[in-house]
Amino acid sequence: MQTLITFLLILGFVSPCLCVRWNNARTQNKTYNVKDYGAYGDGKYDDSGAFLRAWKDICGSQDTPTLVIPPNGVFLIKSITLSGPCIATSINIQLQGSIVAPVKNEWLKVLGMLDPIQDPEQDLTDQRFNLIVISNVSRLSLDGTGGSIDGFGSSWWDCRNCERPTILRFRFCNDLTVSNLNISNSPKAHIRMNSCENATFSNISIHSPGDSPNTDGIDILASKNILIQDSTMHCGDDCIAISGGSSHINATGIACGPGHGISIGSLGRNKAYDTVEEVYVKNCTFTNTENGARIKTVPGGSGYARNIIFENITVIQAQNPIIIDQYYESRIPMSGALNVSDVIFRGFSGTSAKKNAINLNCSSSGCFDIVLDHIHIVSSLPGKPASCSCNNAHGTATDTVPKCYLLS
Ligand SMILES: *[C@@H]1O[C@H](CO)[C@@H](O)[C@H](O)[C@H]1NC(C)=O
Ligand SMILES: *[C@@H]1O[C@H](CO)[C@@H](O)[C@H](O)[C@H]1NC(C)=O
Ligand SMILES: *[C@@H]1O[C@H](CO)[C@@H](O)[C@H](O)[C@H]1NC(C)=O
Ligand SMILES: *[C@@H]1O[C@H](CO)[C@@H](O)[C@H](O)[C@H]1NC(C)=O
Ligand SMILES: *[C@@H]1O[C@H](CO)[C@@H](O)[C@H](O)[C@H]1NC(C)=O
Ligand SMILES: *[C@@H]1O[C@H](CO)[C@@H](O)[C@H](O)[C@H]1NC(C)=O
Ligand SMILES: *[C@@H]1O[C@H](CO)[C@@H](O)[C@H](O)[C@H]1NC(C)=O
Ligand SMILES: *[C@@H]1O[C@H](CO)[C@@H](O)[C@H](O)[C@H]1NC(C)=O
Ligand SMILES: *[C@@H]1O[C@H](CO)[C@@H](O)[C@H](O)[C@H]1NC(C)=O
Ligand SMILES: *[C@@H]1O[C@H](CO)[C@@H](O)[C@H](O)[C@H]1NC(C)=O
Repeated sequence: MQTLITFLLILGFVSPCLCVRWNNARTQNKTYNVKDYGAYGDGKYDDSGAFLRAWKDICGSQDTPTLVIPPNGVFLIKSITLSGPCIATSINIQLQGSIVAPVKNEWLKVLGMLDPIQDPEQDLTDQRFNLIVISNVSRLSLDGTGGSIDGFGSSWWDCRNCERPTILRFRFCNDLTVSNLNISNSPKAHIRMNSCENATFSNISIHSPGDSPNTDGIDILASKNILIQDSTMHCGDDCIAISGGSSHINATGIACGPGHGISIGSLGRNKAYDTVEEVYVKNCTFTNTENGARIKTVPGGSGYARNIIFENITVIQAQNPIIIDQYYESRIPMSGALNVSDVIFRGFSGTSAKKNAINLNCSSSGCFDIVLDHIHIVSSLPGKPASCSCNNAHGTATDTVPKCYLLS
């Protein structure tokens, strides 16, 4: 009897706990700290293994787990892939510390190479040339408040023809949110996304020197429904480049410069069939950039770039504030070109660092339905007023300074 009472008493005490525990387990959003997986965070030891072990647990867990890269740590990692599909319904990553890349020679060692590949075209296929790849993960949210990623690109930039790594690549990631991320000095592009749908990038801060080669800010390839907003990009190439297979892309509140502007393309390289449509770029500033709003296609390609709007743009000493270049990289003359149509440039103001502020250099087959409206750009070169040149461009220009004559 006494045993039974004791048993009941114990059960009475324990069961509410069990109950609470069970409830917690069911609704818990567990946190996984890379330090608990053996990361040193001393900037010297390779923490790749710890990141991968933490990822394995996160990806396989229930509910909405959070991966924490804690503050005050410097985490050296070398070419890792965080892959899905995951069991977790959504995943958060909180980057509060800093992540650093190895320098060139160490990177090559990881890849088992003595010398870098002298072919910049390789990167589309070679997945090893990335610091972090996030692949096939849906509903991922990455918040970089307090943290940073440094690519130590200076060890690579000397070799302009080398295949160089990208820092952060997203492949097949749907419903992606990236915010408050500070990323600098990539050997090549800082962020690239391939085949992603429904992504928002906000408050992204990108920093590389203006003369660092091919250091694009954000590259968008074959992706859909992408919003990039309220971000600052100082880099050595395109701040944002929108490449083939992309549609419904918005960029707003981007402060770009130095850099090569916001570009559609290049499209049609190596005789490719490329398409880009429904692009909306608004409320952006281009300061000391090589280009502002740009569409670039390579002769010999096919496909189209259409329904593109650049609106409310401020240019400060941009060399080519508005440019359509259908002769991009045309070392060998080739026939055929993408069809560029329905492009609106509206509400531009500021200064051009070159005389030719507007350059619509379309292929012999022409560009169609090009609209210039409310454009007021003056040249910052003393005694050299801004000018506009149009080559095979069909459309209309209203309230546009410098004056442009488009074909009807
Ligand atoms: C877990 O996270 C989800 C999504 O953020 C949220 O709806 C839910 O309330 C969280 N649960 C707990 C117990 O915090
Ligand atoms: C993504 O995951 C799905 C489901 O396992 C798989 O079928 C598909 O091949 C994966 N795609 C990539 C690009 O890894
Ligand atoms: C933007 O991100 C930085 C980190 O890169 C952060 O310090 C800052 O608070 C963020 N700003 C806003 C408005 O969230
Ligand atoms: C970004 O991180 C670098 C260090 O990698 C730091 O110098 C810089 O101040 C940070 N920028 C912002 C906006 O937090
Ligand atoms: C993207 O979002 C749209 C609208 O919310 C939705 O209909 C579509 O299924 C989403 N796509 C993916 C791949 O999740
Ligand atoms: C882009 O902007 C257009 C016009 O404001 C809006 O209809 C569309 O939903 C936006 N798309 C994204 C992905 O933000
Ligand atoms: C334009 O972008 C800036 C950030 O560059 C933002 O502060 C401002 O609110 C935006 N204005 C509009 C009208 O969207
Ligand atoms: C463009 O800027 C003007 C004046 O700042 C503002 O009234 C208008 O709403 C803006 N348009 C867009 C699409 O941001
Ligand atoms: C247009 O492109 C052709 C072919 O590359 C080039 O010769 C010409 O100078 C360009 N025109 C302008 C105004 O840039
Ligand atoms: C190019 O696009 C315009 C506008 O949509 C269209 O009228 C024209 O037929 C197209 N040209 C070719 C060669 O497809």
